[in-house]
Amino acid sequence: MANDQYFTASPTAASARREVRLDLPDVTLHLTTDRGVFSADRVDPGTRVLLAESPVPPPSAAQLADVGCGYGPIALTLASRAPDAIVWAIDVNERARELCRHNAERAGLANVSVIAPDELPRDVRLDGIWSNPPIRIGKGALHELLLHWLGLLAPDAHAWLVVQKHLGADSLARWIDEAGWPTRRIASRQAYRVLEVDAHVEAEP
Ligand SMILES: C[S@@+](CC[C@H](N)C(=O)[O-])C[C@H]1O[C@@H](n2cnc3c(N)ncnc32)[C@H](O)[C@@H]1O
Repeated sequence: MANDQYFTASPTAASARREVRLDLPDVTLHLTTDRGVFSADRVDPGTRVLLAESPVPPPSAAQLADVGCGYGPIALTLASRAPDAIVWAIDVNERARELCRHNAERAGLANVSVIAPDELPRDVRLDGIWSNPPIRIGKGALHELLLHWLGLLAPDAHAWLVVQKHLGADSLARWIDEAGWPTRRIASRQAYRVLEVDAHVEAEP
């Protein structure tokens, strides 16, 4: 089927690999993409906004994550910006994981560990999450995904999420905030919002 959703675990669309390039002031990446993965023809504009507007990882960060890594533009940028950290690149789509692994190897980034969502070692706490999350999986599944991954943030760590305005960025920000993760909009550019989310705050007894 050529019309797989990008978040299908095992895309059936025939492979047709191609190349895209990501140019940031500090990082250039040549990335192989394919049919059946998100934004195969160009690096997604929202992903570019996230990488331009969010801070670089702090030097003390040891464990970072890109939740929904696709073919790897965010994970590989983090790995390049934080060479001493491990970057967990997480995706349900096995073709995306294969591409992300290939792209990390090609870029010489040995600090990227590409995994399925249930493969993160249990004791890992994250010093930062960067994500262009899969809004199209639906509100319930998205909320569940966010609760799970935000719950793994170390105290004082943050997550940065990019969400399209017309796909509900502002209501999602409110929902995350009300669920106990203080959330701010730190940038609004083109059609996108970048949200900064703090680690969970326990409610007062
Ligand atoms: C909007 S795309 C972003 C891809 C990539 N980070 C980029 O910037 O090009 C969201 C990604 O989340 C993945 N995804 C969907 N459901 C997921 C889940 N439950 N856990 C982890 N990743 C998931 C999709 O397969 C897709 O690759």
